[in-house]
Amino acid sequence: MRFFIDTANLDQIKEAHDLGILDGVTTNPSLMAKEGIKGQDAIMQHYRDICAIVDGPVSAEVISTDFEGMVAEGKKLAAIHDNIVVKIPMIKDGIKAIKWFTDNGIQTNCTLVFSAGQAILAAKAGATMVSPFIGRIDDGSWDGVKLIEQIVNIYNAQGFMTEVLAASIRSPLHIVRCAEVGADICTCPLSSITGLLKHPLTDIGLAQFMADAKNL
Ligand code: E4P
Repeated sequence: MRFFIDTANLDQIKEAHDLGILDGVTTNPSLMAKEGIKGQDAIMQHYRDICAIVDGPVSAEVISTDFEGMVAEGKKLAAIHDNIVVKIPMIKDGIKAIKWFTDNGIQTNCTLVFSAGQAILAAKAGATMVSPFIGRIDDGSWDGVKLIEQIVNIYNAQGFMTEVLAASIRSPLHIVRCAEVGADICTCPLSSITGLLKHPLTDIGLAQFMADAKNL
């Protein structure tokens, strides 16, 4: 399973990259706004900055919701860097736009996916990645990881090449469960990635080793 970081914060992207286990980045308009990025030039420059840190797929989301707008915007985003993946919402015009990008050799990430039916449509359109939002599903007291498992099974049964990118990760346990059911990629906040490091027995064991090392 590949690890992406789900943020537009350059410091956090650098920190995750320095761990040596980072494979890519996802952003969305909310994450970009959180960093105070305003205006077309600033948005483009921010994606350039992210691509300069991470040598892997960087999802850049369109803000148009009509076919022509998404295609025009996506073309500009894709021209920033070879690693840019155009992120398109799961709506009717979005599916048309994904098919257009597929036919024109541009990578896409279909976002805001909450059902297996939506994931099938995204794969039929040739999306490179599909992003089911598991945390938001859990927020409604459904089981987001079950959806990941269902989509993985469908894609395997049908031979779809679209990668399952588990998004809206809220905890280290989400990452472990997504790995268990065969997600291709998890996009996570830095806290969930570093949360995987933690175990009290590791801390107790290390403290003991360090204390005994003084007697060597
Ligand atoms: C990533 O591609 C998604 O936009 C993101 O994971 C959504 O996460 P949230 O539900 O925490 O906003």
